[in-house]
Amino acid sequence: MQTCYWQLQEHKEAEQAYAEAAALIQQGEVVAFPTETVYGLGADGLNGEAVTKIFLAKGRPNDNPLILHIADLKDIEPLTTGLNANARALAKAFWPGPLTLVVNKSALVPQEVSAGLPTVAVRFPANRYAQDFIKACGCPIAAPSANLSGRPSPTNAQDVLEDMQGKIAGILDGGSCAIGVESTIVDTTEAVPTILRPGGITYEMLTEVLGFVEIDKGLLDDKNFKPKAPGMKYRHYAPKASMYLLEDEATKALPAWTAKALAQGLRVGVLCSETAAKALPRSQNLLLSVWHSKEELAAELFYLLRDFDRTCPAVILAEGVSEEGLGLALMNRMRKAAGYQEVVAENGCYRLKNGAQLPAFLD
Ligand code: TXA
Ligand code: MG
Repeated sequence: MQTCYWQLQEHKEAEQAYAEAAALIQQGEVVAFPTETVYGLGADGLNGEAVTKIFLAKGRPNDNPLILHIADLKDIEPLTTGLNANARALAKAFWPGPLTLVVNKSALVPQEVSAGLPTVAVRFPANRYAQDFIKACGCPIAAPSANLSGRPSPTNAQDVLEDMQGKIAGILDGGSCAIGVESTIVDTTEAVPTILRPGGITYEMLTEVLGFVEIDKGLLDDKNFKPKAPGMKYRHYAPKASMYLLEDEATKALPAWTAKALAQGLRVGVLCSETAAKALPRSQNLLLSVWHSKEELAAELFYLLRDFDRTCPAVILAEGVSEEGLGLALMNRMRKAAGYQEVVAENGCYRLKNGAQLPAFLD
């Protein structure tokens, strides 16, 4: 399949691009588009057959439901049997924006979107290109992140093409995504609203509006709880190299571990703050990605993980961050990327939280 490509920053041609992309959506095809979080892989959200093509292009398990994207607050009404006070308060406070609300679904929502659940996830993105595209389509747009299942989400059009060229009908290029991690998902259907996936709208921001929000126990380390968002149970974001996430006190080990790995002749990828980078040894074999703030790390994390697949280090060491603010979403994504190889310090010794052996390069 030929994948059409439209550059949206050239404003003059944008109208034409939206019209062509919307025509493809109306024909039941899949078109990728930018949002403020990550790129989405869009299809007509009310057309089950079109939605099936998203699953095929991504290689996504069909028990994993999709988010419906809208471009007007009132467009959620036909998709749900009703919004409670919590859902209304959140929509009012954070839409348009990086927040997805799980609500009870109406009969209009196809099975293919909700994967058999009685609920549907809905988001009103803030990105102007996303809004103009959805409006041109005239229907809710079902869209997961535009990566192949298991890969880091794409935050620019080139990364979408890397995974989707030839598999989808088109891509709208709106430049880099400002936020860079996926939307926060909140289940509003129970008495206590619950964060199913941390993201751009933080726990602190949600608490300020609602007074109380729970975090899905399935997101914590406790193996007795399964995540309530079906997609959160899958391995995700994983770079090809083995990655270790150094947490809390264990972040102090970063310079020594980097030196040890380099001394063994390994190419070492390091993802860390500017402060931590100053203490690292210099080497041609050091592939260093430095960030200056949580916002910057969020915006670049998926790009940097994909970049490690291009530069091919033997091992990646990442510095953890505090879980305040955006940190909760960042640690969630980095833990998954590391396949839960989390390094913690205990009584002056280091160990992996999952009980596995420390890597051989440390011997
Ligand atoms: O920022 C985002 O949310 C991006 C952009 C494109 O909007 N989209 C995105 O979609 O991240 P996706 O499909 O990669 O992740 C959606 C997550 C999955 O973990 C899925 O299981 C969960 O939302 N989900 C969808 N519908 C749900 C529902 N009814 N109940 C619980 N979880 C749901
Ligand atoms: Mg995804």
